[in-house]
Amino acid sequence: MLVLGIESTCDETAAAIVKDGHEILSSLISSQIDLHREYGGVVPELACRRHVDIIVPVIKETIEKANLHLKEIDLIAVANGPGLIGALLIGLHAAKALSLSLNKPLIGVNHVEAHLYAAQMSQKEPISFPAIGCVLSGGHTNLVLMNSIGNYQLIGQTVDDAIGEAFDKVAKMLKLPYPGGPEIEALSHQGDCKKYPFKPGIVKNHPFNFSFSGLKTAVLYTIKDLSLSPKITQDIAASFQYAAFSSVLNKTLEAAKKYNCQTIIFGGGVTNNQTLRRMFQETNLHTIWPAVGLSLDNAAMIAGLGYHKYQAGQRDDVSTLQALTSISF
Ligand code: KG4
Ligand code: ZN
Repeated sequence: MLVLGIESTCDETAAAIVKDGHEILSSLISSQIDLHREYGGVVPELACRRHVDIIVPVIKETIEKANLHLKEIDLIAVANGPGLIGALLIGLHAAKALSLSLNKPLIGVNHVEAHLYAAQMSQKEPISFPAIGCVLSGGHTNLVLMNSIGNYQLIGQTVDDAIGEAFDKVAKMLKLPYPGGPEIEALSHQGDCKKYPFKPGIVKNHPFNFSFSGLKTAVLYTIKDLSLSPKITQDIAASFQYAAFSSVLNKTLEAAKKYNCQTIIFGGGVTNNQTLRRMFQETNLHTIWPAVGLSLDNAAMIAGLGYHKYQAGQRDDVSTLQALTSISF
């Protein structure tokens, strides 16, 4: 089954063709980083306008790269939330127009759930469920008990900033360009992660919830009293990253113990971070990470998950499928 996936939830316009949920025939991501960099973060209005300009060329090129004709597509899967409303509507309407004109079925896919599917796409062996899913992105920080594809229980989430958002904001304080995650990771390699003993946030009575705003404020107050030399910047970057990831590591390990899971499945842009991967590789858990090109927002994960949703019987209607700014598990 050939599935066309469409993704436009935030600042990436992406399309992909995936065969039978696993085999990526083509995957294109048009990033808007250059557009938003001067503002230090995503400007929703600019994001929507860029999606409008680029969505049709991106879809066209994706189909050409897979050596296919539009009419050979069997299903259209679109990320219909969560995300920025204007951005979501562009992808959704493109998907609806294709579905109507080609007379092909349409499926709406939860973007966060797709991040959890991304790492599973390249696995040769079946995943042994239950597993703990860990989504670490610019918009989301979730711990999920995964019983199978499509059967989840949310067990923890951030009560304030998403982890990627905290990376981006701390990077801004350190006068680093947007997006801040890769910048902080690069500087951390030269920094001393124990130099500033930042504390990860604790959420009373909710051991699996995350909080990053206190950590962010601690960095802000530390910087206030310092003049930022390259060495100090590296040490702050490394210390912040270490505190943020310690929180992820500890809560994920606790969750794995409580729910008796041996496998952790990761998704989202922050899981590109090699220090994070190393910290988990030192544990005895089986960790599954997204392959190159599948951590950050992409449409292959949307097409891949769309296939499973279709096989499980989901059908969506062009006249009723809505863009949703927030969707819970
Ligand atoms: O998954 P994603 O593309 O978008 C959302 O769905 O939000 O994630 C983008 C986020 C940004 O906050 C970015 O700074 C962060 O992922 N990120 C990283 C790294 N690469 C991207 N954070 C830490 N280390 C990285 N190497
Ligand atoms: Zn995402």
